Amino acid sequence: MRHEAEQQIARSAKPMLHALHGETSASPPIWLMRQAGRYLPEYRELRRQVPGFLDLCFTPELAAEATVQPIRRFGLDAAILFSDILVVPHGLGQNVGFREGEGPVLKPIRSPADLRGLSLDSFAGRVSPVFETVKRVTELLPKQTTLIGFAGAPWTVATYMVEGGTSRDFAFAKGWAFTDPEGFDDLIARLVDATIVYLAGQIEAGAEVIQLFESWAGVLPETAFRRWVIAPTRRIVMALEERFPAIPVIGFPRGAGLLYRAYFLETGVKALGLDPTVPPGIACRTLQSIGAVQGNLDPMLLLAGGDAMEAAVSAILDAFRSGPFIFNLGHGIVPATPVENVARLVELVRGAASI
Ligand code: CP3
Repeated sequence: MRHEAEQQIARSAKPMLHALHGETSASPPIWLMRQAGRYLPEYRELRRQVPGFLDLCFTPELAAEATVQPIRRFGLDAAILFSDILVVPHGLGQNVGFREGEGPVLKPIRSPADLRGLSLDSFAGRVSPVFETVKRVTELLPKQTTLIGFAGAPWTVATYMVEGGTSRDFAFAKGWAFTDPEGFDDLIARLVDATIVYLAGQIEAGAEVIQLFESWAGVLPETAFRRWVIAPTRRIVMALEERFPAIPVIGFPRGAGLLYRAYFLETGVKALGLDPTVPPGIACRTLQSIGAVQGNLDPMLLLAGGDAMEAAVSAILDAFRSGPFIFNLGHGIVPATPVENVARLVELVRGAASI
């Protein structure tokens, strides 16, 4: 099975899949986290057509258009499905909203009693418009472009569900996890199950790669990191590998610091997304020796542009050029980013072979 999958990739003309299968290239593939979004005028125009952000995620025609917009403009090597990590709590029956300028607002879940209000029974039906988006995108992409599906990893999604939105200190999520670890395990287990259904649906609809966003990996001490980041991620990766052995998973445990290596070795992810604080000169020896790495330009350097950006891009390319590598940011593009800086970045990375 694996052999067959590898032969298929060898025949395909998709640079992103080559890197994920361990090949080194003088000019690495490039895509950017949050490449669809408010920095693009055509996205802002699309966003005006619906009242709420979730309406955009659940209208396949519009979400497919948002997915393809950055590909049309910049010819990136991968498109990432336009959706959000909070589609999963919505699918489980939690009340999820987005307020302009404020971010997500959820009706918090803080006890085993609240948990009983969540259900996996109607989950697949509630998130099925996302699968329809994936299907549509497969028909719109150029043949060299890879389609990435995604989900939030359970710990990160749980923080939003328990806090009721973004948090500074994660007092409620950590408070629950540390005082009632078995009860918190129950929430994480439900998220593992839902995430597997959600990602399997995306893959069946045509996603070729999966990325797991663990945006809040960096806030847990080691024991908790192993229990609520590594273990659930491993369960998801194993379940997908069993059903879809040819589909690579990229793990992005933002801020994991000295635990990046344990995460890479123990979760079974095929590639590792690095945040901007990971030193490329160290990561090429300690992490790229395990598998493909992705990253890690600081999004604020993309915002700044100019010499500062160019120097940082060269340093990243130099450090990672001798192993499997996918160029990306270390976190998502910020809305104020000038479109010209993104175009220049793509040009720089595409020209890497001649630097
Ligand atoms: O282009 C892409 O990357 C695909 C789409 C995508 C979105 N969100 C669209 C979005 C992806 C992959 C995400 C992931 C996501 N969502 C994460 C993980 C990555 C990260 O940033 O750490 C998280 C934590 C979320 C939750 C979320 N969604 C927050 C905190 C916010 C508010 C902050 C903000 O940027 O407004 C969102 C809203 C959101 N998700 C927007 C977009 C384009 C902006 C809302 C809008 O356009 O009205």
